[in-house]
Amino acid sequence: MNALPIGVFDSGLGGLTVAGEIMRALPHESIVYFGDTARCPYGPRDLDEVRRYVLEIGAWLADRPVKLIVIACNTGTAAGLALAQREFDVPVVGVVEPGARAAVYSSTNRRIGVIGTVGTIESGAYSRAVRMIDAGVTVFSIATPKFVDVVESGLRMGPGTLEDWLAESSDVFIRPSFFQMARDYLDPLKRSGIDTLVLGCTHFPLLSAAIQQVVGQQVTLISSAEETAREVAETLGRREHMAAQDSEVRVDFATTGDADEFARLGARVLRRRIDGVEHVPLEALAALTPAESLETLERCASEEAACD
Ligand code: DGL
Repeated sequence: MNALPIGVFDSGLGGLTVAGEIMRALPHESIVYFGDTARCPYGPRDLDEVRRYVLEIGAWLADRPVKLIVIACNTGTAAGLALAQREFDVPVVGVVEPGARAAVYSSTNRRIGVIGTVGTIESGAYSRAVRMIDAGVTVFSIATPKFVDVVESGLRMGPGTLEDWLAESSDVFIRPSFFQMARDYLDPLKRSGIDTLVLGCTHFPLLSAAIQQVVGQQVTLISSAEETAREVAETLGRREHMAAQDSEVRVDFATTGDADEFARLGARVLRRRIDGVEHVPLEALAALTPAESLETLERCASEEAACD
């Protein structure tokens, strides 16, 4: 038994879709969620830069301490999972492998589409993860960076809007221009005959109703959140690190951005009240990264294979 919390982080609010799934699957576990909203989005950034953020936030979480770290961000996972697993003493779980596994299990025609940020798609992380499980699968990947903006700006719209999206009601509020943008992105994937589409960004489950409408009901959408929660449960179970059924459950939040805004918008995603969000200044975060980790980062920048 281990009553320490699980640490979960993302560039911002998108990772709350994963945190919510972990809360549902593991109701006795405490969670510390870190949203790096001051530096969101990660998607267009250089992978070396994102790798540094992963180490900084991982060090902050490890310092709490936590018993397991979830990189609830595809871009962060693609850039820094292997490095984080080597740097930290606790297990580190990413979202790419669980999403790839769920997609391979779901596809019958072995034609799988993946959408994500530029960083995730250009890293090739999903293609590699899918081929590790079934080398006969053909993966069709497209970066859809504007979807992150749609979610971020949608979250900032008036009350009701996001709830409409989340409720997947027939009169969801989405600007008509979204559908044209989505068709431009997704039509080539549809034409390639995929039967499964991975939402390879933790922001995208908030758009799943609209994306489903564009790709059609014959395409199964995969969000890695559920599969990641399962992997967290398995990892804790194997190590006998589950919390006791009667342990006091805490859910804490921290952000590099505006704490009040995080509480307001995060509550809309999680559909639960969020109080007392801690603000973590970027300088404080950077100061936590051990000198050896910074040296490793430098090696990664000059010699890519050092961090794979
Ligand atoms: N939530 C991040 C991911 O899963 C995307 C948002 C961003 O670009 O920071 O990749």
